[in-house]
Amino acid sequence: MLGKVIAIGLLVIAGFSVAGYLVFSGPRMTVQPNLRTYDARMPLPPPGIVPVEALAEPRVPAASEARALVNPLPPGERNLAAGRVWYNMHCAFCHGGSGAGDGPVGRSFSPAPADLRSARIAAMSDGELLRAMLTGPGHEPVLERVVLPERRWPIVLHVRTLSAGAEIAPASGTSAASGAANP
Ligand code: HEC
Repeated sequence: MLGKVIAIGLLVIAGFSVAGYLVFSGPRMTVQPNLRTYDARMPLPPPGIVPVEALAEPRVPAASEARALVNPLPPGERNLAAGRVWYNMHCAFCHGGSGAGDGPVGRSFSPAPADLRSARIAAMSDGELLRAMLTGPGHEPVLERVVLPERRWPIVLHVRTLSAGAEIAPASGTSAASGAANP
């Protein structure tokens, strides 16, 4: 009798153990093919794809090549007008319409934005000016990414007109330049 009870008891325990195993650690999601956390991979682009955006955006010239780089755009009316528009869009709020470095945002800067009419800026080669305005002190690294390639050389042309105005007559040149920059 006692033997029977023990045997049944053992059977019941074994039954619950098997049932428990199946319920709690039996076949689950993890047993089938699945992605673990952080396992996901970006799908690769199809073969033969060309990154057009990266190609369209030339890098800022290196310091070594900047010195010899000449603005490829002639200072025609159209290019100058474009340069004035892009300057007013990308630079004037810091450097001011006249280039004096007194734009509404620039006034809160320390050091103040460079005076773009200064002899130091005028002495830069076209390439050095391009490089300075995209990655120079005061604007690294963001301007390089913000100012689209086709806007860069026109802006250089416009900055040249600012310093030319200052060279001829510092006081009146300033107001003439700012008048031109804020039509
Ligand atoms: C967010 C404000 C800001 C904007 C926008 C900005 N600049 Fe500047 N820029 C500065 C400051 C500040 C300096 C001076 C930093 C210093 O003296 O250390 C400076 C310096 C310069 C210099 C002299 C760099 C050198 O090597 O000494 C040039 C040239 C220049 N800026 C041109 C431009 C042009 C062109 C644009 C528009 C494409 C522009 N900046 C947009 C703030 C700005």
